[in-house]
Amino acid sequence: MPDSMKSEYLSLADIFSYDQNFQDIMLNMLESALEASFQGVMITEAEPGFPIIYVNPAVCEMTGYQRTELLGQSPAMLQGEKTDQAVLADLREKIERGEIFHGKAYNYRKDGSTFMMEWKIVPIRGVGGEIANYLAIQREVPDIQGD
Ligand SMILES: Cc1cc2nc3c(=O)[nH]c(=O)nc-3n(C[C@H](O)[C@H](O)[C@H](O)COP(=O)(O)O)c2cc1C
Repeated sequence: MPDSMKSEYLSLADIFSYDQNFQDIMLNMLESALEASFQGVMITEAEPGFPIIYVNPAVCEMTGYQRTELLGQSPAMLQGEKTDQAVLADLREKIERGEIFHGKAYNYRKDGSTFMMEWKIVPIRGVGGEIANYLAIQREVPDIQGD
């Protein structure tokens, strides 16, 4: 690695453009990190309904759905009667403004059981600056209100 790359401000984009070999290695590393992560990672398209294009194994473990059952669907499939609509309204507002969303709400597993989902959504921008995708980090947290 050249000294110029040891800067504190080095971005992932700089690393990826270093050379083709390094790009491949970084992509493999990223993929391994996502596949092994304890937290759920979900990527959607930036279109109405937010069709899911990627989930890591942690999302499948948490929700009970297989990857193929989630791909192409809206994350709204995890919602139900007990899901707090105020949280979803906040989510819509943040997304419209291009801001990061962070919140908690009841979600439903495939077997119908509920759990408290905490998730963050970040917009992913394309080279032209437009929002191309959304990425969510998701985890199950204790339900402090009781059930
Ligand atoms: C990347 C991403 C991840 C999401 N993950 C969840 C989730 O884990 N649980 C949930 O209840 N809603 C989640 N949502 C929100 C739902 O997709 C959203 O409430 C639903 O699409 C309805 O939005 P709309 O009413 O604006 O169409 C997620 C949205 C995005 C973009």
